[in-house]
Amino acid sequence: MTLKWGTPDDSATGVKALLCREYGEPDVLALEEIDSRSPGPGELRMRVRACGVNFPDILMIRGQYQIKPDFPFAPGCEVAGEVLEIGSDVSGFTAGDRIVGVPGFGGMQEEIVVRAERCLPIPKSMDFDVAAVFSLTYGTSYHALVDRARLRCGETVLVLGAAGGVGSAAVDIAQQLGARVIAAGGSDQKLAQLAKFYGVEETLNYSLEGSELRNRVKSMTQGRGADVIFDPIGGDAFQQVLRCVNWNGRILVIGFAADSEHLPKAPTNLLLLKGSALIGVFWGRFTEEEPERSYDNFKQLFSWYEAGELEPHISHRFPLERGGAALTALIDREVVGKCVVLL
Ligand SMILES: NC(=O)c1ccc[n+]([C@@H]2O[C@H](COP(=O)([O-])OP(=O)(O)OC[C@H]3O[C@@H](n4cnc5c(N)ncnc54)[C@H](OP(=O)(O)O)[C@@H]3O)[C@@H](O)[C@H]2O)c1
Repeated sequence: MTLKWGTPDDSATGVKALLCREYGEPDVLALEEIDSRSPGPGELRMRVRACGVNFPDILMIRGQYQIKPDFPFAPGCEVAGEVLEIGSDVSGFTAGDRIVGVPGFGGMQEEIVVRAERCLPIPKSMDFDVAAVFSLTYGTSYHALVDRARLRCGETVLVLGAAGGVGSAAVDIAQQLGARVIAAGGSDQKLAQLAKFYGVEETLNYSLEGSELRNRVKSMTQGRGADVIFDPIGGDAFQQVLRCVNWNGRILVIGFAADSEHLPKAPTNLLLLKGSALIGVFWGRFTEEEPERSYDNFKQLFSWYEAGELEPHISHRFPLERGGAALTALIDREVVGKCVVLL
């Protein structure tokens, strides 16, 4: 029997998938089997070897993300693996190619059909686990710092949520661009690990600093504030950083990990006084609107990776059946760098 992709079937013996059938916390996910399906025009079928775990996966199973797939669905927006089958109208791929894909969801299953335009070959030196955690975070952070903030060598970047996925990628990329990085996070232990893995010299604990965050940033920057502020957390920290941005500064709105229900608001007089800009970043939309530019960004990122200039760190690895625990590790703020599910 052929089923619609993602439809569970008691008699199916094919593809293991970690499915979400109702909104909730990671314990709603259950390992089931679904049928494989052939790719249609413009699509690839791939064997998933690793699936990166990202904050949007949590929002998606809670029903709080902008994309709401039909039930049942597997979480997992980015994957790495091999091409199994190629649909009509697809060129540039061969069965067996090692690729990354960004399907948006559905990554926590052994096979997935992905639009070919959302896939890229990966460098020979890049293992599947690293490839699976690279696209979304490094893609987002590069787009944010280079395309949106136009970060220049020698400028100071304050990265909030620096131990997290997009935060650690921003630290890695900003250092590669020659910026001075102040890495801010909520735990001394995680910041110490971040400093060790990425060679960061200046760190700041925003949970201990409380309302002192802005004063500390100012004192670390001779009273001027940071030139670029990378904010994937929102919440109270956002109100603080609005007040410690340099003249001509850029504040990048990346996400709201601290509180996705109460979005922070900005008093516009603060932007006026600093001649500063509040800049939205939406990497997924960028890849749709400007695919060629996104492709060029990956060419640059992959070439830095191959030259040993970037070093994504993975602190947690889980098998597919423990994919829910992978999401819980993110919710519990245990991860430093990235978390990956291996299949
Ligand atoms: N704009 C885009 O295109 C784009 C792309 C990808 C992701 N995002 C967004 O960026 C945000 C971060 O994503 P991510 O994948 O990097 O997540 P992540 O790996 O879980 O990192 C988030 C970081 O936020 C900090 N944090 C502060 N308060 C938190 C809380 N209440 N719960 C959990 N973490 C908290 C944590 O660091 P401490 O424990 O050190 O505070 C954590 O390391 C999400 O909102 C996501 O939707 C946006």
